[in-house]
Amino acid sequence: MNVTPRIAEPRNTRAMISGSFVRNAWYVAMWAEDLAPGQVVGRVILNENIAIFRKADGSVAALTDRCAHRFAPLHLGKVVAGDRIQCAYHGLEFDGSGACVLNPHGNGRIAPGLRVKTYPIVEKHRALWIWMGDKPADPSKIPDFSPLDTREESHVTKRDWIIIKANYELVVDNLLDLSHVSYLHDGLLGNEDTIDSEISVEQDGDAVVVGRKSTNSRIPGLFAFQMPGQERVDKWNTIRWTAPGNMLLRSGVHKPGTDPETGTGYYGIHFLTPETERTTRYHFTAVRWNVLTDSSVNEQIREKISVMRRFAFAEQDGPVIEAQQVAIDQAGEDLEPHLLSIDVGPVRYKRVLQNLIAQEQI
Ligand code: FES
Ligand SMILES: [Fe+2]
Repeated sequence: MNVTPRIAEPRNTRAMISGSFVRNAWYVAMWAEDLAPGQVVGRVILNENIAIFRKADGSVAALTDRCAHRFAPLHLGKVVAGDRIQCAYHGLEFDGSGACVLNPHGNGRIAPGLRVKTYPIVEKHRALWIWMGDKPADPSKIPDFSPLDTREESHVTKRDWIIIKANYELVVDNLLDLSHVSYLHDGLLGNEDTIDSEISVEQDGDAVVVGRKSTNSRIPGLFAFQMPGQERVDKWNTIRWTAPGNMLLRSGVHKPGTDPETGTGYYGIHFLTPETERTTRYHFTAVRWNVLTDSSVNEQIREKISVMRRFAFAEQDGPVIEAQQVAIDQAGEDLEPHLLSIDVGPVRYKRVLQNLIAQEQI
């Protein structure tokens, strides 16, 4: 079989949605702190139902969320003996390896093969990363989100999440083309002055980095209280996409014409995890860098950034992206966008994404 053309010629980088997921990749299942020892939760990731639980020793396991007996969801059960899930329905117990370790009925016999599938899951950068493919999971391939490891909590906003009822690629498109901040987040993250920006795109292996810079702009609201008294700024951001949906933004403002590193801003962390083709669990937080404000106000600023970013994603981006999904679905799958200069980042990542999908389908 000649496989080269499938990789060299991905299906259609102008397609709005690729129609398939990359499976051999790390996805963020949830924030680590949202799972206490002894807690079990259910998640849907790439259309698969998964029960995730934390053992008494702090380690985490992920199992198919479907009991091997009569298929009750395991996340309805509870963690017992510190290291296993007891099914809520008839009490079978499964350990972190997926093996049934207790049958409370009859002679207690456990038939060979009475087990459930497991998923590799790793705690890193304050998140739980799950591997959805059948190739070996390599934790060293978890992308670098080390700004999240900071211990100065007053500089870190709430580790938050929302559900967006749309394909995750529409959210990646949104984040890799930050021209929308001048319109959708006018006054908050951008304004009229930031429309005119210089855009750069670089590819670093399978990562795509998009930069955007504007000069001598009125300072947008979210930055104004990080740099009090400054009315006009040069504003910049670079956002790094790592397949399939993990993105690290570094955003900043500084006095016009000065060294960008003398300014201030934040890392924006965006973990997009597809639940289904039409729903995305969007995890986010922000970590400030080169904090210029006094420590007495940083707790308040932390709160403000948390609230404003959640508002921006849930109340401004979310409704437009969901409506965009509805419009695409109503029109059929063959729509092709009329691309503009601002779309260079989204087009580049789509090519990488579709190559990764094509490679898995060989
Ligand atoms: S369905 Fe789980 S023990 Fe019966
Ligand atoms: Fe946005």
